[in-house]
Amino acid sequence: MSANPSQELLLHRPDDCHLHLRDGAALAAVLPASARVFGRAIIMPNLQPPILNTAQALEYRARILAAVPPGVDFSPLMTLYLTDHTSPEEIRLAQASGAIFGVKLYPAGATTHSDAGVTSLRSIMPALTEMEKLDLPLLVHGEVNDPEVDIFDREQVFIDRVLTPIMRDFPSLRVVFEHITTIDAADYVALGPPTLAATITPQHLLYNRNALFRGGLQAHNYCLPVLKREVHRRALVKAATSGLPKFFLGTDSAPHARGAKESACGCAGCYTAPLALELYAEAFEAAGALDRLDDFASRFGAEFYRLPRATDTIKLRRRDWQVPADLPFGDQRIVPFRASDALRWKVEA
Ligand code: NCD
Ligand code: ZN
Repeated sequence: MSANPSQELLLHRPDDCHLHLRDGAALAAVLPASARVFGRAIIMPNLQPPILNTAQALEYRARILAAVPPGVDFSPLMTLYLTDHTSPEEIRLAQASGAIFGVKLYPAGATTHSDAGVTSLRSIMPALTEMEKLDLPLLVHGEVNDPEVDIFDREQVFIDRVLTPIMRDFPSLRVVFEHITTIDAADYVALGPPTLAATITPQHLLYNRNALFRGGLQAHNYCLPVLKREVHRRALVKAATSGLPKFFLGTDSAPHARGAKESACGCAGCYTAPLALELYAEAFEAAGALDRLDDFASRFGAEFYRLPRATDTIKLRRRDWQVPADLPFGDQRIVPFRASDALRWKVEA
C-alpha cells in the first residue's frame, strides 16, 4: 500500500496491541501521542491499584476517552489484570461488556506495578477455564520472577514453567506472548498452534543489550523484559518481517517521569509512543522489508482480536527530524526513547 516506498509509505491506520497509558495527568500527557497515529490500542491494566474488574475497566475507559483530543478517533480496547482471585463470574462480566479484549497475566513481582500479580498456576485455573470457554484471550508477561533465574533467561524459563503447561491444559485458549525478546520465544510462537501469537516492541527490534551500557548506564533504554543479545534481536526482526500473522505490533510504550527513570533504582519502561511507528519503519527498512510493515502494524493484530482492519490510512514520509530531549508529563518531564536523536521517518500530521 505505498506510492514510492523509498520516500513515503501509505499504511492502513495501525493498532498498538500493547500500550501503557497510566492515569490522571500522565494519561493526559501521553495519550495524544498514541491517538495521533494509532486507531486502537490494547490498554494494559497495571495501574496502581490495578484494573481488576469490569466496572474499573469501564471507568478507566471513560477517563481515557475523555483525554482523547477533539476530532481524533481512538478506541481503547480494555484488559483486566489477572490475580490469584479472579473469578469465573468476573470473566463472564468482562466478556459480556464487549469492552474488554483480554486478561493480562503478570507473574507477581516480574515488572512495574505487578505486585498484585499471579503467584501460582493452580490459582488461575478457574479463570483460565472460563476464558477458554468464552474465547477471551490471555495476554502474558512472559518472564518468571525467580531470583534464582538469571534475568536474561527468564523468558525461556517462563516458556517451560508457565506457558507450555497453559498451552497444554487450555488448547483452545487464545494467548498473546507479549513483548517477546528471545529467539526461543520467536521459535516457540512460530511453531505453536494458531491460538498463540506475540507482540514485538520497536526497542527489541532495533537494539541489543549493548544499548543499556553504551558510554555509561542508559536508564532510558531499560525496560522489561530487558534487551537481549544480538542473536535474539535478529530473530525478532526475522519474526516481525516474516509475514506470519502470529507476530504483530505492540509498542509497550511505558511512560515514567524523568526522575523515576534517572534514579539510583530506575523504573523499567521505554516511552516510545511519540516515535513508535517511525522506529518500526526504521527496523523494517534496515531489514529490507518495508513492504511487510503494513500487515504487521494494522492487519495481524486486528485479525487476532477479531476486529475489522482500519479503512483509513496514515502516511510515513522520509524526513530527518530530531526527537525532543524531553516532554511535559503533568507537573514533571518525561524523556522519550531516542531523546535528541535523529530519525529518518516521520508520520505526517
Ligand atoms: C511496563 C510498565 O512500566 O508498566 N514496563 C516495562 O518495562 N515494559 C510494564 C511491563 O510491560 O512490563
Ligand atoms: Zn507492557
